[in-house]
Amino acid sequence: CGIVGYVGPQQAQDVIMEGLRRLEYRGYDSAGIAVLTDEGLQTRKRAGKLENLRKLLDERPLPESTAGMGHTRWATHGAPNDRNAHPHVSYIGNVGVVHNGIIENFAELRAQLESRGIEMSSDTDTEVVAHMVEDAVQDVDRSRPDWLREAVRIVCNQLEGAFTLVITHADDKDTIIGARRNSPLVAGLGDGEYFLGSDVAAFIAFTREAVELGQDQICEINRERGITVIGFDGKPVELTRYTIDWDDEAAEKGGYDWFMLKEIAEQPAVVADTLRGRLTDTGQIVLDEVRLSDQDLRDVTKIFIIACGTSAYAGMIAKYAIEHWTRIPCEVELASEFRYRDPVLDRSTLVIAISQSGETMDTLMALRHAKDQHARILAICNTIGSTIPRESDAVLYTRAGVEIAVASTKAFLAQIVACYLIALHLASVRGVKWGDEVSLIVNQLREMPGKVDQVLDTMQPVRDLAREHLSDARQVLFIGRHVGFPVALEGALKLKELAYINAEGFAAGELKHGPIALIGQDTPVVAIVPSPAGRDSLHGKVISNIQEVRARGAKTIVIAEEGDEAVVPFADHLVRVPRTPTLLAPLVTTVPLQVLACEVAASKGLDVDQPRNLAKSVTVE
Ligand code: G6P
Repeated sequence: CGIVGYVGPQQAQDVIMEGLRRLEYRGYDSAGIAVLTDEGLQTRKRAGKLENLRKLLDERPLPESTAGMGHTRWATHGAPNDRNAHPHVSYIGNVGVVHNGIIENFAELRAQLESRGIEMSSDTDTEVVAHMVEDAVQDVDRSRPDWLREAVRIVCNQLEGAFTLVITHADDKDTIIGARRNSPLVAGLGDGEYFLGSDVAAFIAFTREAVELGQDQICEINRERGITVIGFDGKPVELTRYTIDWDDEAAEKGGYDWFMLKEIAEQPAVVADTLRGRLTDTGQIVLDEVRLSDQDLRDVTKIFIIACGTSAYAGMIAKYAIEHWTRIPCEVELASEFRYRDPVLDRSTLVIAISQSGETMDTLMALRHAKDQHARILAICNTIGSTIPRESDAVLYTRAGVEIAVASTKAFLAQIVACYLIALHLASVRGVKWGDEVSLIVNQLREMPGKVDQVLDTMQPVRDLAREHLSDARQVLFIGRHVGFPVALEGALKLKELAYINAEGFAAGELKHGPIALIGQDTPVVAIVPSPAGRDSLHGKVISNIQEVRARGAKTIVIAEEGDEAVVPFADHLVRVPRTPTLLAPLVTTVPLQVLACEVAASKGLDVDQPRNLAKSVTVE
């Protein structure tokens, strides 16, 4: 969910709606706003996208106000309807609450409230907080200036689970309170105005000065007093300020129909930025920012990569490179599985947590699970100051810039590049000897931005193919081997999440063990063909797999290197990518699959940037 809070001289509604617009990628099942006015707390909320709330505000405008909060929801408890939309208001009507996360003991808390005759007006876990704060306010000393903050603190100590809360009270029109436990919240510091947000996108249009908030902290923003932070234990916390270096334009579409298209187009620059300053002219890797000593890296005996979604596919690609270049055993695991098992780790295990947002709950919890067993944690992350890098021993930032489209594209390519850098760094620190291969790969890496650009220049036939041959497909299969396998998984994920087509990725060698039963004339197959160069090329094997599916009537869409003539007879549609060493090939072979999914979705009239039921940052389990 996305959360905004504001106090300051501007019209609160305008500031909050602008913040919600920029946070909508965090959830769009419903949206709501509450402002503090002379007539008390006034709320408006609506199921569906932010646009529905905007229409409601046109029909029923809110009174003027200089403080308030907003929410854009990704539903967890309760259906995505008007009734369950946030903000939720207390039984007397003084307290308003917006929430992200899950309050795990809500059933018990609700039963206590209901036993006192308080009726619930929604099915959410959030609503209990509004009633509890209403009660707590009656118990605190109202003569103290921080009475609302204190009431919130008392309530937070009774909540279990993960939450970001933003809370208002009708009796204090100048104060908004935020609280966080294992769920994201940052504060923004403007000129006489203050903000709260799930991330800095909430207030980037108004200020670049932000304040970091830690776990189990409460942040008060007040027109006169500014920003005050305390712990759930009541102790004051010193403010940690930072300046946001994002370009505000990055949060705008800049002429493209969709953010996703813009982000796909940014990939050459993103790959170049993620490499910048990290490769020397002599073919060395410079990762001084990764605060793990060379000795620590030499001591590593095993690597685990943990991540979710697209980031986990970047991890799968990394495994091939890490094991090949460093000879350190590497396992990749979905964070949601890793965290609930008993993985074997110790001090010499390096855990690489990959996360675009740095806030994914399962990845964060998996990281803590690994930390408990004394593993060293290295984060690959795109969001400075987010929770996952803060809780890691070291971090390598990807430099993809803000990614708005829910389906990840440029962040994925940046993650793959970061993984290559780490693998090469490990190899050189550990003195792995493979002739001049490191400097060779460094040079090849340098060529990748240009190659990605070349792919982008040749995408028109892919767009035509998407519209003419795939938009009516009911099922599409993706096959690949080696690093082409995770690319197939990512291609299938993109198509299913954007175009709602049943799409699956398979290791091509596994086809005959089951998936081939799905093949028929109406199932197009996308095949990622490895380079025919390379010593142990699997080129011939993948061509055999393509022949197997064609023999059963499937039409094939073949992604293959320029100059690879052997594929021509077996391709109903051929997509060319520049010649690239096998391990680096995902940077070019993924791009047509992104374009394909984007175009199929657009041709079906779907919302490319905000596919149904998804959210960009999943901060719940
Ligand atoms: C969500 C997003 C995906 C993303 C995944 C992991 O499911 O929709 O695009 O890959 O979370 O997110 P992270 O921020 O941890 O990379």
